[in-house]
Amino acid sequence: MSFTPAITGTGVFTPEMSISNAELVVAFNAYADRYNAENADAIAAGELDAKAHSSEEFIVKASGIERRYVMDKSGVLDPEVMHPLLRQRSDDEPSIMAEMAVDAAHKALKAAGKTAADVGAVICAASNHERAYPAVAIEIQALLGVPGFAFDMNVACSSATFGIQAAADMVRSGSIKSALVVNPEICSAHLEWRDRDCHFIFGDVATAVLIERIEDAKGPYFEIKSTRCATEFSNNIRNNNGYLRRSRPDGIQDRRDMQFMQNGRKVFKEVVPMVSQHVTSHMDDQGIAADQLKRLWLHQANKSMNDFIGKKVLGRVPLPVEQPNILQDYANTSSAGSIIAFSQNSNDLSPGDLGIICSFGAGYSVGSVIVERGG
Ligand code: COA
Repeated sequence: MSFTPAITGTGVFTPEMSISNAELVVAFNAYADRYNAENADAIAAGELDAKAHSSEEFIVKASGIERRYVMDKSGVLDPEVMHPLLRQRSDDEPSIMAEMAVDAAHKALKAAGKTAADVGAVICAASNHERAYPAVAIEIQALLGVPGFAFDMNVACSSATFGIQAAADMVRSGSIKSALVVNPEICSAHLEWRDRDCHFIFGDVATAVLIERIEDAKGPYFEIKSTRCATEFSNNIRNNNGYLRRSRPDGIQDRRDMQFMQNGRKVFKEVVPMVSQHVTSHMDDQGIAADQLKRLWLHQANKSMNDFIGKKVLGRVPLPVEQPNILQDYANTSSAGSIIAFSQNSNDLSPGDLGIICSFGAGYSVGSVIVERGG
């Protein structure tokens, strides 16, 4: 016996604080000036490169990002700190990722007209997890009061679609009746705010989707018609932080590769064709023609990247409504980006309308979820 999975509710937790490009650039430039003054001799001797100023114009033109939400802006905007400052919580308090995910999960449950008791599993799919163990997902499960089981998974920016595939497959096989896939992303903590090449890229958010059997949906839903995941190893997006850090000769030294690093140009050039090809072949195999596709909810990393992919998939320039972007307000929120776009831009679709949620990023990884509006 096989069941048909559907997304029956979504939720987004948006942090209260937001940083505009103007604020970001002022802080970065103050940091760069301090750095250059402190290292004037080494820079004059050619031992160190001076840090150049960042610019708002560059950021918007190169990425389409105008602002980003963060869990803490005080540390990020302090030229003496340049990273978020998050309070140390005791082991008896909810961890910060769990708190963000629980908020998004409550919204997804409410949207679906369900309670935690209706859920069979929690998957916490994100680019970074707050600790090694116990799994953050199990803490989220406990805070929500969900029976069954929970686990963490990480496929960087593609975590949400890979999580949806895992949950949808379990619902389809009957091993669970429903699952919450949550994506709490505190990208501000892995971003190197002292590097002008990338300091504007990321923001914080948490998203949740509830996946149930189609017959359990209480309201409108999105049937999960088909999912497809692919990975290809690449070092072009990498973060070397990890639990072996202490054991290495450098110990916990402040090293650049302990934060997010990327070769942005290469990522752009290599990932755009990989994703376009992935999505078009997924559609071909499902017998879906470009003109049948009503919406593309793409990963939110870079506006030009999305414009290229949308054009390739549809065979023409997509209308803004067909390929909604949220990155101007949220920046790149890693795995959560395509789910924010989906959550905020899907209620207007009519029964029978088809769309694709697609995420991509480090790994490389790409995941696509073909959905059909129902109910
Ligand atoms: N302000 C002003 N100038 C800047 C700058 C800033 N903040 N950051 C970089 N520059 C300069 C560079 O130094 C470079 O100068 P040069 O030509 O004299 O060497 C120039 O602007 C162009 O930089 P480049 O890094 O090549 O820009 P880009 O057009 O490739 O845009 C990204 C950079 C990161 C926005 C873009 O490459 C990108 O989005 N790539 C894909 C990212 C992605 O999806 N990653 C996935 C993450 S999960």
